[in-house]
Amino acid sequence: MSLRLFAWLLLLFCVDLFRHELTGAHADSVPSAAKTLVWGPGLETNVVLPARFFYVQAVDSSGRNLTTSPGEKTFEVKMVSPVEQFTRIWIQVLDRKDGSFLVRYRMYATYTDLHIHILLKNKHVAKSPFILKGPVYHEGCDCPQPSGPVWEADMHCPQTFSQIERDLALYASVDPDRNAQEIPQRFGQRQSLCHYTVQDNKVYVRTFGEHVQLPDVEFFVNLGDWPLEKRKPTEKIHPIFSWCGSNNTRDIVMPTYDLTESVLETMGRVSLDMMSVQANTGPSWQEKNSTAFWRGRDSRQERLELVKLSRAQPNMIDAAFTNFFFFKHDESLYGPLVKHVSFFDFFKYKYQINIDGTVAAYRLPYLLAGDSVVLKQDSGYYEHFYNELRPWEHYIPIRADLGDLLEKIQWARDHDEEALKIALAGQQFARNYLMGDSIFCYYYKLFQEYAKLQVTEPKIREGMELVEQPSDDLFPCSCHRTKARHIVKFPLHQSDFVLFHLT
Ligand SMILES: *[C@@H]1O[C@H](CO)[C@@H](O)[C@H](O)[C@H]1NC(C)=O
Ligand SMILES: *[C@@H]1O[C@H](CO)[C@@H](O)[C@H](O)[C@H]1NC(C)=O
Ligand SMILES: *[C@@H]1O[C@H](CO)[C@@H](O)[C@H](O)[C@H]1NC(C)=O
Repeated sequence: MSLRLFAWLLLLFCVDLFRHELTGAHADSVPSAAKTLVWGPGLETNVVLPARFFYVQAVDSSGRNLTTSPGEKTFEVKMVSPVEQFTRIWIQVLDRKDGSFLVRYRMYATYTDLHIHILLKNKHVAKSPFILKGPVYHEGCDCPQPSGPVWEADMHCPQTFSQIERDLALYASVDPDRNAQEIPQRFGQRQSLCHYTVQDNKVYVRTFGEHVQLPDVEFFVNLGDWPLEKRKPTEKIHPIFSWCGSNNTRDIVMPTYDLTESVLETMGRVSLDMMSVQANTGPSWQEKNSTAFWRGRDSRQERLELVKLSRAQPNMIDAAFTNFFFFKHDESLYGPLVKHVSFFDFFKYKYQINIDGTVAAYRLPYLLAGDSVVLKQDSGYYEHFYNELRPWEHYIPIRADLGDLLEKIQWARDHDEEALKIALAGQQFARNYLMGDSIFCYYYKLFQEYAKLQVTEPKIREGMELVEQPSDDLFPCSCHRTKARHIVKFPLHQSDFVLFHLT
């Protein structure tokens, strides 16, 4: 038996043991198998994601949604393929504690006609069994969808992303030939600036992501923290792809490395990911502590201010450093360093402070996904989705200098129902727009729109190296799609970004 298979069996076993340990919570009503709702991308054959997922909303016999957990083990999910004896699929049912469940599964092989059974006390729920017809490819199967439009339709990608439109509106066209000359000259041979070409099937960028035929495209990625293009839009600007944008720069933003990895490595990642956080949102709103909470390191002046404020007003704010790195540690001012707190424990608190670090705080997607309310510092830095976030709808805004932080916490304490409403709207935002399918759509759209602006051919430049695709030797699969000539996986993994640059 291979090590990987063994590890996988072990995991399956552990998950099962874990489930048996937990007993169901008390329900305020009883779910009905017929009325319960089931939906999501994981019920469709052609939405290939590293971990596929779908949702279950418990509904009672009178048609009311349950709003508290009917118990972790209420629903049982089984997956079988009629043509296989044993399906190697790792399934997790995550209780979101609000009457809904997130079911994620990872396939280790490709199956034909996958049957998904969702059971409530041995009764089929909603339209269960859900049948995914035809070959259901696992993530490791090298079987790209040759047609971009078909892939977009399969993934239900939105028509547009306003941030992409904003970023690209600054360019009437992009000239790969000119950029290839000018960008390295202007920004130097920085370690953090990588030059990519995706062309024909000679150049690959390896990832663990969904794959689709991408247009030929040539671009520069900034792996550093800070955005680079500081020129005014009226001057001659260069397109640079960055994880983070700012009010004073013109970089083209893409989903952060952290969020991307959290989507790609989901179920393989021990640390935080956008799905497991949904199952670990702590006690219910009423049970949460109403002291505002923050932990982190000293990467910005305002963070120092925050910790000082917390020491002055401990009944309002519990903020402390877990690490000192940038500033000199003065224990009399900032207190002792405290032990690292599991991110899931953040959600024991109602009010979460989101404050810039070196650049935008990349924890915001995870904070939003919880059921606490986010107090977000006004910031010149932004990630790819901030443009869609609305103050007072998805979060409570606080001034860049934190001058109104105490006042805003007091507001939240005095307006508990409104604060809860904002918390839930923020959570809904994360559920709708920050999951794997959305992130893939964003990348695809970005490259597609960018490629359209190119006025010269993308080329493989001197010094560029080919990145080899991994092959899945353990569970080979046969691809039934017509293979395209241009086969490229999304260039999403940081190690790949580093592999393929001008040296
Ligand atoms: C019940 O939950 C589903 C799924 O989240 C949602 O679409 C629907 O609007 C909810 N129904 C009510 C009455 O709140
Ligand atoms: C709430 O949290 C604060 C700060 O962590 C702590 O001092 C306080 O005892 C907690 N309150 C309750 C009721 O647990
Ligand atoms: C950055 O720009 C946004 C959008 O124009 C604005 O709301 C925000 O106040 C600005 N923040 C800072 C700190 O410059």
